[in-house]
Amino acid sequence: MERFHTLLHEREQAGLLRSLPSIEARREGRILHHGQSLLDFSGNDYLGLSHHPMLTEAAQRALEALGTGATASRLLSGDLSLHHELERRTAIFKGKPSALIFNSGYQANVGLISCLCQRGDRVLCDRLSHASLLDGARLSGAKLERFRHNDVDHLGDLLGKSDGKAQRRLVITESLFSMEGDLAPLRAIVALKERHEFELFVDEAHATGLFDGSGSGLAAQAGVTDQVDYLMGTFSKALGSFGGYVACDQAAKDYFINACRSFIYSTALPPAVIAANLAALKLVETEPQRRETLRRRADHFRRALRREGLEVLGASQIVPVILGDPAHCLSVSETLRDEGYWVLPIRPPTVPEGMARLRFSLTYWHGEDVLDALAHRLGRLCHV
Ligand SMILES: Cc1ncc(COP(=O)(O)O)c(C=O)c1O
Repeated sequence: MERFHTLLHEREQAGLLRSLPSIEARREGRILHHGQSLLDFSGNDYLGLSHHPMLTEAAQRALEALGTGATASRLLSGDLSLHHELERRTAIFKGKPSALIFNSGYQANVGLISCLCQRGDRVLCDRLSHASLLDGARLSGAKLERFRHNDVDHLGDLLGKSDGKAQRRLVITESLFSMEGDLAPLRAIVALKERHEFELFVDEAHATGLFDGSGSGLAAQAGVTDQVDYLMGTFSKALGSFGGYVACDQAAKDYFINACRSFIYSTALPPAVIAANLAALKLVETEPQRRETLRRRADHFRRALRREGLEVLGASQIVPVILGDPAHCLSVSETLRDEGYWVLPIRPPTVPEGMARLRFSLTYWHGEDVLDALAHRLGRLCHV
């Protein structure tokens, strides 16, 4: 017990102590927290699909027909034809020959990277990559090298260095970065393949459902789908449901089924979740206005914040506003919560010193009037 108190105290001193909010209800961009209704700017339900009747009804039908759980791993009796249908549709959606689904995006990244690389290999990862990507790289035993965020020259320099041994090299980036809201230079990264031999792994967790005419993501929008070897993403954010996927060649998929421990040693996703994922893919295809509206509103919000003299990063539905001082950031977040906005402060060491920020995660439910009022209020709070 004493040990945990000490460890928690250390975290508290470092400003890293966290607690769970316990939210009572969630609907249409709002949450109920300790009886208070708040506009939620910290969730990832970007397209507002998590309560869409097409998803909930599809989930209910699958629940009635197939039960609550998948009962076993895919390699045992947990494998349903519904899983295969979702993989077929995901492959088409991502423009790849095949796809494999995972129980979460986290499990996908850890499992895939740790079975793609091994001791003696090199993993070159953007410095701001998600924890699941770094954890996968560390678990693989490969040498982990982190290139400066979105710095293709730095990546090129690292690729140019070799210690003479034949090594497998895996380059990893997110396509839309979750803390910065900015986009990876995918075309420039792919262009490095002309000079260097490497495989490319792109995490589209925050871009899936939102970019390209089809909603497929940023690899499709940049026209580099064929050059990305492993196109990973989740159903848990814009698609309003749950689970992860990788889109890749058939041979790679067959290898993952046989070698990827997070896939093999875990019970398959439940039928209701698979059915909701299928419905979400359909909606992304039939309701492009959701992502178009969200994009327009994100641009609108950025402009409104800049008019208030605030420093804004990114180019997507994730809108970080730099406040600099961590204590000020915390106090503005608390004031906004008292006034009905749920937005969390991101402070060092999660972000560099002097770059403490509020990270606004916009969804389809946040209208321009709400965003204007919020930008105005934030301007007042930051310029007192
Ligand atoms: C970039 C990135 N990759 C992977 C994940 C993990 O996805 P999931 O929430 O489906 O486990 C996240 C989740 O926050 C993420 O931001």
